[in-house]
Amino acid sequence: MSPQTLPSFTTSTPLSQTLSSPYISVALTMVTFLSTTLMMLLLLHHKRAAPSKERKILLLPPGPATLPFIGNMHQLIWNKSSVLRWIHRVLTDMGADVITLKLGSVHVIVVASPEIAREVLRKNEPVFFSRPPTFASNLFSYGYKSTSLTVVEAQWRKMKRVLTSEVLSPAMEFQLHGRRVLEADHLVRYVHGQLKTTTQDGGCIDVRHVARHYCGNVIRRLVFGRRRFVDGREYSPAMSVAGADEQEHVDALFTLVNYVYSFCVSDYYPGLVGLDLDGHEKVARGVMRTLDRLHGPVIDQRVREWSRRREEGNKRGAADILDVLVALEDADGQPVLSLDEIKAQTVELMFGSVVYPSNTVEWALAEMVNKPEVMRKATDELDAVVGRERLVQESDISKLNYLKSCIREAFRLHPYHGINAPRVAAEDVTIAGYTIPKDSHVIVSRIGLGKNPKVWPEPLEFRPERHLVDDGAVVVLAEPDLRFVTFGTGRRGCPGVSLGTSFTMVLFARLLQGFSWAKAPGVDAVSLQESPTSLALAAPLVLQAKPRLAAHLYVVES
Ligand code: HEM
Repeated sequence: MSPQTLPSFTTSTPLSQTLSSPYISVALTMVTFLSTTLMMLLLLHHKRAAPSKERKILLLPPGPATLPFIGNMHQLIWNKSSVLRWIHRVLTDMGADVITLKLGSVHVIVVASPEIAREVLRKNEPVFFSRPPTFASNLFSYGYKSTSLTVVEAQWRKMKRVLTSEVLSPAMEFQLHGRRVLEADHLVRYVHGQLKTTTQDGGCIDVRHVARHYCGNVIRRLVFGRRRFVDGREYSPAMSVAGADEQEHVDALFTLVNYVYSFCVSDYYPGLVGLDLDGHEKVARGVMRTLDRLHGPVIDQRVREWSRRREEGNKRGAADILDVLVALEDADGQPVLSLDEIKAQTVELMFGSVVYPSNTVEWALAEMVNKPEVMRKATDELDAVVGRERLVQESDISKLNYLKSCIREAFRLHPYHGINAPRVAAEDVTIAGYTIPKDSHVIVSRIGLGKNPKVWPEPLEFRPERHLVDDGAVVVLAEPDLRFVTFGTGRRGCPGVSLGTSFTMVLFARLLQGFSWAKAPGVDAVSLQESPTSLALAAPLVLQAKPRLAAHLYVVES
């Protein structure tokens, strides 16, 4: 992997860099405003606070020097365009596996070793069960109604039960298999069709576009029973992968993931909510406008349909996930979920299904095109396990160990998000010999774990073989030991492991089996530069593709 993937950020930004930053005016305004307001509050607080004779001395993990009252907030603001890289740089500079940042009055503990991550997420899971409230997670979950974003344990229990026993049950996954096959077939037909129209570009394919919209199409089919938002354009010819609404939908889901836990200043100073000093609130509201516009009519119409069916005693079996959510009834025949709970859970099912699988497959292909030996081993495995006479299916995944190792390696090196969703300490607790005070936010760094040289020799090298075990045991994408993060672990771990594996592996295996991939003409090596604002590739991956299979295999009936 190129060293460019971790640009060198310093903990204290040089003045020249700071002055040229587009965030300068916002940063200076905020720092001045915050410093003045907060220093005044600090003075008041000091005057009022009774002098404590027995001040408790806390042994916190080490961290960068803090300013009174604002802690490290000024550094966060200066590094706003890439907070996660700044945090990672602090970890590296301090040579620590766990550090403390102080944001306002909140201790934010960042963990970068598997042992400490397990101590937090497994050994002390009850203490770190909840997530911190944030402006964006509140908005995106319609008031903390969805499983992953809720901060209320009773709400989590209710929604998680619905997910595990109904929505993501093996029976439902089996029932929806045919819909996933439709999209997997459409994928190869679409790419093949594109090649006929792109001969002037040397047969180049925008892998990002294909991967993101494959995932968007599959999850809309599973949840809403259709890939398009507008009726009457349900299945256009093979040339179509997404219309304008679908593109806006997928973009909104990516923005949601970018903003859900993105260190919004007002999350640490709730009195500032509404001033939108860092522009987060505007972006988050924009995401919800799009999702409400697109999801709202489909959900409202389905709720009306089921309420009419209940009145008429004319119920039917659930045909898709939205049916499951809307049709669930308690012992008195009343709906189990409110309208907001249905909307919140729908949003949440969408973003996990679209963002992580598509980003991982895009990165895996980018790395593999630069390493022809890895690419050859992957296609050899497909030829040996599946052959070239039929298309690879979900049922083949368990046997594709090398392909799964490639995907694990992409998860390790290139998580879409640099951190796991934060947890909050319900009480004082000792972790790695340090005291973590009640109400601290604890963040497991995906970059810190996946690129930790104590765990991964030559950590920046894309080497799938490190995931193959000698005894030939089946490779899986889950990593409950947290040597890097895929689906997390424990009770708040991902309930979509099976579906997430299917999304990721079918996309990857179909692209590799159906086409040979190479650098676009005139390109020496695929750039592995990360985006300045996320860990996605800086530019969409565009590769040259050539069909590998007999022509009739691309003409699949829809
Ligand atoms: C490759 C795809 C996926 C990856 C890498 C992934 C990863 C994760 C991770 C890391 C967590 C958080 C664990 C923690 O906080 O410790 C999570 C939670 C969650 N994921 Fe996934 N996920 C994927 C696909 C899916 C799919 C397809 C669904 C459902 C359709 C889904 C639904 C959820 C839900 C509901 C939670 C919240 C669990 C809770 O808080 O109890 N995910 N996922």
